[in-house]
Amino acid sequence: MKISAPKFMTDWKTGVVTGPEVQGVERRVRDLDGVFADEGAFSQLRPDRLVYRTACVFPVPEGTEGGVFWGTTFIEPGTVGAEYFMTKGHFHAKADRMESYFTFAGTGLLVLMDTARNCWAEEMTPGSTHLIPPYTAHRTVNTGDDVFSFGACWPSDAGHDYDSIAESGFSARAMRVDGSPVLVPA
Ligand code: PA5
Ligand code: NI
Repeated sequence: MKISAPKFMTDWKTGVVTGPEVQGVERRVRDLDGVFADEGAFSQLRPDRLVYRTACVFPVPEGTEGGVFWGTTFIEPGTVGAEYFMTKGHFHAKADRMESYFTFAGTGLLVLMDTARNCWAEEMTPGSTHLIPPYTAHRTVNTGDDVFSFGACWPSDAGHDYDSIAESGFSARAMRVDGSPVLVPA
């Protein structure tokens, strides 16, 4: 029987994923209008400044029931006013679908919000492992001075519902207060 080399490799220190057809998105300042609270500070940032990017493996078409996707998100260090660089955040389009996150490098927060808009957060540090419950919006925040990277594994039929967050946001924001992260009501 044949033994072959792995198709994909994940560097457990950095989160870099290599292999055929690793695809990702880049989110720059110009893609994140309306995400951060301080519009004045936001307008001072270079529109092409990178905030975060992903490197993902999609072995089956998006929407396939029973498949899984795998990928790393890299969030740059930075703030908009006192608010840390973070992802847009989303519910899953099939809102009952769970997801797991696990940290490779840096320090951050996983901000979670249920459908009643209760918000809470978990610290993310290398090795930390997080299970996002069903019906729970999730957003990650880089609270450190270095690139923050974490892996994700999620069902291929979960999809992303960004519209609910674009309309109503999260009910709390991760802000730097006296040099430390605090979850502040929005
Ligand atoms: O599937 C996930 O939850 C992650 O891979 C995110 O898509 C990734 O972290 C980027 O965040 P967002 O999709 O909220 O822009
Ligand atoms: Ni997700």
